[in-house]
Amino acid sequence: MTDALLLVDDWGPEKIVVVSHRRTGMKGVLVIDNTARGIGKGGTRMSPHVSVEEIARLARVMTWKWASVDLFYGGAKAGVVADPSSPDKEAILRAFARALSNEVPREYVMGLDMGLTEDDAAIVQDELGDRGAAVGTPEHLGGVAYDRLGVTGYGVAEAADAAADFLGRPLAGARIAIQGFGAVGNAAARRFAELGATVVAVSTAKGALHDPAGLDVPALLAAREEHGDDLVSRHPQGTAIPSGRELTVDCDILVPAALQDVIDEDNAPDIKARLVVEGANLPTSPRAQEILARRGVTVLPDFVANAGGVVAAAFAMDSRYSGFRPGTPAIFETISDRLRANAVTVLEEARRRDSTPHTAGRTLAEERVRTAMRSKGRIPR
Ligand SMILES: NC(=O)c1ccc[n+]([C@@H]2O[C@H](COP(=O)([O-])OP(=O)(O)OC[C@H]3O[C@@H](n4cnc5c(N)ncnc54)[C@H](O)[C@@H]3O)[C@@H](O)[C@H]2O)c1
Repeated sequence: MTDALLLVDDWGPEKIVVVSHRRTGMKGVLVIDNTARGIGKGGTRMSPHVSVEEIARLARVMTWKWASVDLFYGGAKAGVVADPSSPDKEAILRAFARALSNEVPREYVMGLDMGLTEDDAAIVQDELGDRGAAVGTPEHLGGVAYDRLGVTGYGVAEAADAAADFLGRPLAGARIAIQGFGAVGNAAARRFAELGATVVAVSTAKGALHDPAGLDVPALLAAREEHGDDLVSRHPQGTAIPSGRELTVDCDILVPAALQDVIDEDNAPDIKARLVVEGANLPTSPRAQEILARRGVTVLPDFVANAGGVVAAAFAMDSRYSGFRPGTPAIFETISDRLRANAVTVLEEARRRDSTPHTAGRTLAEERVRTAMRSKGRIPR
């Protein structure tokens, strides 16, 4: 077991609050990592395996994500140790929200992560009697339906377009392979098709499809509506290929949008794409990033490419006390502007420093947080 004090380094956490409630058996933790640029914001998860260390690590990821897209929130994350399918879920969640009423919403606003649904966000608002206590509520309560709108996948394709332009190989006409056809993968495919790219491979947990001449994206989207992950067998197009092969098919841009650690030192030498755009979190191992860099393959980091969700979350934060719904066109416009600009900034910086885009992007985010800490007198001027 890790001593929570050992988690503290130069950036944070500023605060770790462990809460419990005897009657419901609720146990949980809130980690506020670094608020130099704004109050703590990051999802709230429910899983039987939540640990202080895991939540602290995810809170740190949020510190860099917010700074990377230059939005004024700080890194934070919360977790409840419980089975989300438990019949006592609501009572546990209410006890968790109540126990954190000193911090929520003044220092931390709850949001959705693994194990929590839109209705759970509504329960948190109800328990604390404050519409500002959580974002991620259903649309009929004024929430932003991130996954239905496909904000993250849209941003992945927009960032890919800017990166492709930067590299002098325009997206229009480029061949794209996408691993994962869930909320991120399907919305990315839709936007890639709109931008004139050709999707040559897609996969789900149930299998993979490949057609070098291009798959019919509208037909795939319709098949997903009907069959979910089974679209690959129930509405097959092209040729079925073994799972995992979609990563190494001949293409120009590869978009891992399913799981972490899928590109490693074993398959990095076989990747044909010249640009990898990380839709999923942490899909490329550090070793694979080095191998790809040496082979001249550019990797656009997750915290740059999949930041559409955090931009939409910032809109949701703004609308918590408003009587108006956040405007969908403004959300998409901002995602496009921010992610395109950030993709170019990070790639330019990587070129200037002769480093990987991951290192360059992380350094930029660190500089923003350090500058804010210095201005606020949290570190010597
Ligand atoms: N949804 C968001 O807004 C968002 C934001 C940022 C990052 N992410 C990250 O993007 C990734 C995908 O998230 P999502 O919301 O689309 O999830 P999802 O559950 O909606 O979809 C995941 C997809 O990946 C597929 N998949 C699972 N295992 C696979 C395998 N071995 N091979 C091929 N496909 C496989 C699933 O079948 C499904 O199609 C995750 O890493 C998530 O953390 C999501």
